[in-house]
Amino acid sequence: MTLIPSKLTDEVVSRYKDCPDPRLKEVMISLVKHLHSFAREVKLTEAEWIKGVEYATRVGQFCDETRQEFILLSDVLGLEMTVVELNHGSDAGETEATLLGPFYVPGAPELPKGAMVSDNSAGEPLDVTGKIQDQKGKPIVNALIDVWQAGEDGLYSSQDPNKPKFELRGKFRSDRDGTYHFKSVLPKGYQIPTDGPVGDLMQATGRPPWRPAHLHFRVSAEGYQALTTHLFVKGAPHIHEDAVFGVKESLIQDFKRNLDGKGYTLNYSFILSQA
Ligand code: BEZ
Ligand code: FE
Repeated sequence: MTLIPSKLTDEVVSRYKDCPDPRLKEVMISLVKHLHSFAREVKLTEAEWIKGVEYATRVGQFCDETRQEFILLSDVLGLEMTVVELNHGSDAGETEATLLGPFYVPGAPELPKGAMVSDNSAGEPLDVTGKIQDQKGKPIVNALIDVWQAGEDGLYSSQDPNKPKFELRGKFRSDRDGTYHFKSVLPKGYQIPTDGPVGDLMQATGRPPWRPAHLHFRVSAEGYQALTTHLFVKGAPHIHEDAVFGVKESLIQDFKRNLDGKGYTLNYSFILSQA
């Protein structure tokens, strides 16, 4: 995109010349240039400008301790994924990162290896096993694996006051041989929240609000870069039209139906890169 020059933009930019923080100065100057250019490119009207202000106000008003409408907005605009792509590679064989999203809740309990992350969620049983390892295949001992997912109803525990705070959430440690194991239920696809301003935007622009079925992970270990990612269910509906652009081919995994027909098994080894 070529930026559209103007005297006013130059004047605004010049007011940041004494900013004492060089990074803040760089970000603010670029933001001003791009914002002005955007307004000129689309010939923004005064009515549209005020509509935008009102929209941003509503997004803020929708936020509280459990609802983060700004993250959701950044996600449907592909901004969070842009930042993920800028800051995480995959060239050295590490597991690819994807977005955090608005439903992570810190403080989930640490559970023993093999424990179930649900008290009473409906769904088909799922067994998740694998290793945490480095790029050379060396097992990483005592890595922390923080897991969360939506229930069959498409809701995270933070979206439903009737659910225990840490339902379908838990932390696990990798063993001496780098292995981890937990039990859960097979994730289902769900719609991102559509009852707020982001939902209005999706509706107005004719975009489907679906996310394909997935599990969320944050994996961390001393000396390694923390990894935030998902594993997606191969063949899940909407796998190639994720509303928030989080799907990467390498993260689509085979959740295998067990031979006895009772439940599913996923085996996946996470590869971390050195800090
Ligand atoms: C999620 O998977 O939890 C999520 C991510 C981004 C936006 C909405 C939901
Ligand atoms: Fe999710």
